[in-house]
Amino acid sequence: MDSIIVKGGTELRGQIPIAGAKNACLTLMPATLLSDEPLTLTNAPRLSDIRTMTLLLQSLGAEVQSLNEGRVLALSSHGLNNHKADYDIVRKMRASILVLGPMLARDGHAVVSLPGGCAIGARPVDLHLTALEAMGAELELKDGYVHAKAAGGLKGGIVDFRFASVGATENALMAATLAKGTTVLNNAAREPEIVDLAQCLRAMGAQIEGEGTSRIEIQGVDRLGGATHRVVADRIEMGTYMLAPAIAGGEVEVLGGSIELLGAFVEKLEAAGVSVTPTKDGVLVSRKNGRVEAIDVTTEPYPGFPTDLQAQFMAMMCTANGTSVLEEKIFENRFMHAPELIRMGAEIEVHGGTATVTGVERLRGAPVMATDLRASVSLILAGLAAEGETRVNRVYHLDRGYESVETKLGACGANIERVKEE
Ligand code: EPZ
Repeated sequence: MDSIIVKGGTELRGQIPIAGAKNACLTLMPATLLSDEPLTLTNAPRLSDIRTMTLLLQSLGAEVQSLNEGRVLALSSHGLNNHKADYDIVRKMRASILVLGPMLARDGHAVVSLPGGCAIGARPVDLHLTALEAMGAELELKDGYVHAKAAGGLKGGIVDFRFASVGATENALMAATLAKGTTVLNNAAREPEIVDLAQCLRAMGAQIEGEGTSRIEIQGVDRLGGATHRVVADRIEMGTYMLAPAIAGGEVEVLGGSIELLGAFVEKLEAAGVSVTPTKDGVLVSRKNGRVEAIDVTTEPYPGFPTDLQAQFMAMMCTANGTSVLEEKIFENRFMHAPELIRMGAEIEVHGGTATVTGVERLRGAPVMATDLRASVSLILAGLAAEGETRVNRVYHLDRGYESVETKLGACGANIERVKEE
């Protein structure tokens, strides 16, 4: 298992390019199941999660070719010959559940392993299932699998989400494109990745209105064609790297994304005393004063503060002036970075879904352990300004969502290296 070693104390200067969004690509790839014509995705990120989704789609008989050093994915489900998504692949990545809606919509049957929980929570899929049932699907849970049928195809229906679930909105949106009649998704998720998916589905011939709002209306069509679609920039990677100069000092231009993708995150960053200036190619970020101010944050569905940037923002609050209260309202266990930051000298008290952070002058480098994707990167960010050396172990979590973080930060002057371990 590789580790990443960061020696703190160097200000950052330079540019960091942002890749295509992992969480957009993971829903765009299963969309190939809706049509037997080719789907080409450009600006694809090179991440282990994308490789896992590739293996899953290939296990169903779909073709997935990685071209242009992984930046282009050429998909086709013309050869779909297996409608069962096995546990041994699904357990590696929760997004695997996103093959359920498209497969069911295309052929009227699908068997998909329940994903199981993960480090940040139980993460049930009840909202995915009730949405498909509202479109006429018959579902049976047996031996850890969802057995789904829709004899005669799915029918348009009204879906009222009790919570604006990203994945459930994506599954329902894809399924509804081939359902007979009109489907309305109420309290739908509004994330930019949903908008990106809708734009790709529309290019394939789907009739969709309202993506990006809480109400999405879909007129089912008989069939969908192929398309070529550019994956939207990764707003979470963008926000992560915007925090790097805010924590380490210096000035960094983050390239390839627009601040509209980040909702309330930018307001919170500016309130903490970070300068955020849109440029022609992205956004220029620097700290206004020697030390940022403590700011309270509550995570919410988009356009609220993204849960996927909570750990990274906490890393910045560890050396802020004052005390900040971070409320995690999306997942039930997403403070596992806190004990590791405390090992670096942070003062954090966690009570249930609330973390209270009292800023200290400086953190001290320490060996720390990554536990999930975003916790991993928050430890690297903390290490950028810590005194001495921080060694982040188990960085396979990191590689799920961040392309060569050591290269991108190293190019801006960070003292960072990856240590390969047998
Ligand atoms: C997506 O997960 C993202 N993953 C997550 O990013 C992100 O944190 C999350 O949306 C929220 O923005 C992908 O897009 C692949 P949800 P998803 O359904 O779809 C509960 C990362 O770091 N829930 O909006 O699983 C669930 O337990 C990852 O890149 C139900 O109760 O998120 C959770 O508490 C982490 N029943 C909350 O809703 C359901 O049927 C948010 O889940 C579905 C969800």
